[in-house]
Amino acid sequence: MKKLLLLLVLSGVLTTTRADEGMWLPMLLGKQVYNDMVKKGLKLSKEQLYSINKASIKDAIIIFGGGCTGEIVSNQGLIFTNHHCGYGAIAAASDVQHNYLRDGFYAYNKDQEIPTKLTVQFLDRIVDVSKEVETAFKGMSWDDRVKNRQEIYKNITDKVADKENGMSGRIYSMFNDNQYLMFVYKIYRDIRLVGTPPESVGKFGGDTDNWEWPRHTGDFSVFRVYMSKDGKPDEYSIENVPLKPKYFLPVSLKGVKDGDFAMIFGYPGGTNRYETSYGIKLKNDIDNPSLVALRAIRLKYMHEQMIKDPAVKLKLASNYASVANYWKFFDGETKQLKKFHTYDQKQQYEKDFSKWAKGKPDYENLMSEYEKNYAAWAPYAKHRQYIREGILGSPLAAFASTLERLESVLQKQGASAKDLENAKTMAEASRKRFIESENIPSDEKILGAVTMAFYNDIDKDQYPIGFYEGLKNSYGPLDDDATFKKWAHDVFTNTLLLNDSKWNKFMEHPDAATLQADPAFAFASAFVGNYTDKYSPLYTAFLNKNNELNHWYMKGIMEMQPEAVNKMYPDANFSMRVSYGSVKSYVPRDAVKYDYITTSKGVLEKYIPGDYEFDLPAKQVELFKKKDFGRYIDKTKKDLVVGFITTNDITGGNSGSPVIDGNGHLIGLAFDGNYEALSHKIAFDKNLNRTICVDVRYVLWCIDKLGGAKNIIDELKLVP
Ligand code: ARG
Repeated sequence: MKKLLLLLVLSGVLTTTRADEGMWLPMLLGKQVYNDMVKKGLKLSKEQLYSINKASIKDAIIIFGGGCTGEIVSNQGLIFTNHHCGYGAIAAASDVQHNYLRDGFYAYNKDQEIPTKLTVQFLDRIVDVSKEVETAFKGMSWDDRVKNRQEIYKNITDKVADKENGMSGRIYSMFNDNQYLMFVYKIYRDIRLVGTPPESVGKFGGDTDNWEWPRHTGDFSVFRVYMSKDGKPDEYSIENVPLKPKYFLPVSLKGVKDGDFAMIFGYPGGTNRYETSYGIKLKNDIDNPSLVALRAIRLKYMHEQMIKDPAVKLKLASNYASVANYWKFFDGETKQLKKFHTYDQKQQYEKDFSKWAKGKPDYENLMSEYEKNYAAWAPYAKHRQYIREGILGSPLAAFASTLERLESVLQKQGASAKDLENAKTMAEASRKRFIESENIPSDEKILGAVTMAFYNDIDKDQYPIGFYEGLKNSYGPLDDDATFKKWAHDVFTNTLLLNDSKWNKFMEHPDAATLQADPAFAFASAFVGNYTDKYSPLYTAFLNKNNELNHWYMKGIMEMQPEAVNKMYPDANFSMRVSYGSVKSYVPRDAVKYDYITTSKGVLEKYIPGDYEFDLPAKQVELFKKKDFGRYIDKTKKDLVVGFITTNDITGGNSGSPVIDGNGHLIGLAFDGNYEALSHKIAFDKNLNRTICVDVRYVLWCIDKLGGAKNIIDELKLVP
């Protein structure tokens, strides 16, 4: 009885198969999991999902850019991904005259496609390297493991053959250092923009609708991978030809029904499903609220400038979108963790674990060690967020802090001419990037506001020595924001970092004294230096200890419940996963039911002419009013279906992922999670968790009817 009770409690917290939870490694799909997929509607064999020898679905799935997923949809290397994944490249390809971000863009032939700085990565194979890694770690203390980890990994990945042809290996720790897998990728570097809807479609609903259902966003964009004439990955060249892919996904015109099977392949970036109650407390009490407050400050000042001027908007858009995205996420995460009482559940689970661990030396002190480790770090956690999200949230301060490297070379006795040259080159490159994206009016306000927030919210004993006293003496009382505004204005007026002629003069004969006297550099170096010297080592120690404890905790969990082990999946870590579930409506709160699809009708209901977030292209309004949906219409609903939701378990990084039906056909693109389950990185809720997808028929409608790019439609393999 007791054991049964324990198991019941455990199953509420432990990350094993329940409902549609699970981000599975496609090469290690257990029988149980595969059988469950078949039961729910999968019609394909394991080999058709993942195979080393034959072309399989995994060959159509790519890492898109730095943190998204994409899929190959034609035999000429055509890629579908999200609009918000292509966003930076679309903004970079735009200027005020050719404003593709605002107006959309389609290449009507391959010559019109626009080169980008993006890369995409194809997964070639996965190799279990646990033995090699563990042999290399043997006898090392945990600190030494951390110190040597990169080198040990590198010794293994260096052996991957065919580097000249774009192959490279990366090792991922699974189950908190209880297993090591090497993923071998082929990296392509000539990626071109083929098409994008106007932002009013691709980001319809903006940040108001972000992380929310019901949703009406056409969150897609289209790119193409190129290879050299002899079939290899290559830098951009006019000579290059479209990639001949191993496999591409057919596109379904059939549409979805409530209850239909859906699977999603992609690259979930990170989850922490085994987080302890200690971690949740730190997150809810300190980390999340600090980040949210500081980002709100930055967003406010950026937004003020962006709405005034299209050139500023293009400059700041991409950075603004990513800051806003996780500002809303972390706010929602804490709200949902509280709603679900995740902290209390974890505590209960930890109590049960400790009971089990009694008398087992590897495990019995784990919880008290966690407690000690968190208690040692907690007093400084806020400080860390205020540096990362506050002080370094000013682009000027962030750039200035990169110059510490130049400073240290300038100060070093006997630094070589080559060291100096390198440091100068890096400083110039860093300044170029900074100037390209700098907007002075917003940055100046941000600098003043975050410096005041630091003063108000951080422990006095943790201030950089002398800074605030100096400010008070020169500028006035510190409880008055006018003081901080005046000071920030002086920094921006006097710094040489923003002044081309002063900067160039300095760089001809750089010296440490001039740099140190610069107000922007002095500021960044005071705050970042103070953090780096005193608090960053404590953070590293905290992290390393946590990694060690996490390793043992995971091992203990597996030992405690051996029967559950083959139903466990490792936390997401940006390695390829497949999740499966079904199309499904839900009840977000009492008396409210959310349907599983949205339609053109809802788009028009939300439409606000001229609005920053809810405007639409005139042509779209006209076509929608005429119900001109062509062959993309949903025959049952007699409308154009725009979005749908599924129960799949995904997270950030999965953006752009293909949503695939039981026959292996593309039915949509995953692009978001719902607000009611934003706890999902830590706790998956089986009733409320939904993945938000754009229906592929809406994607096709936008390309064809709105964009007139029949050439793209003709390239696809459409399944009626
Ligand atoms: N929440 C989405 C994700 O993380 C990004 C959506 C982008 N749209 C926006 N309005 N910021 O994948």
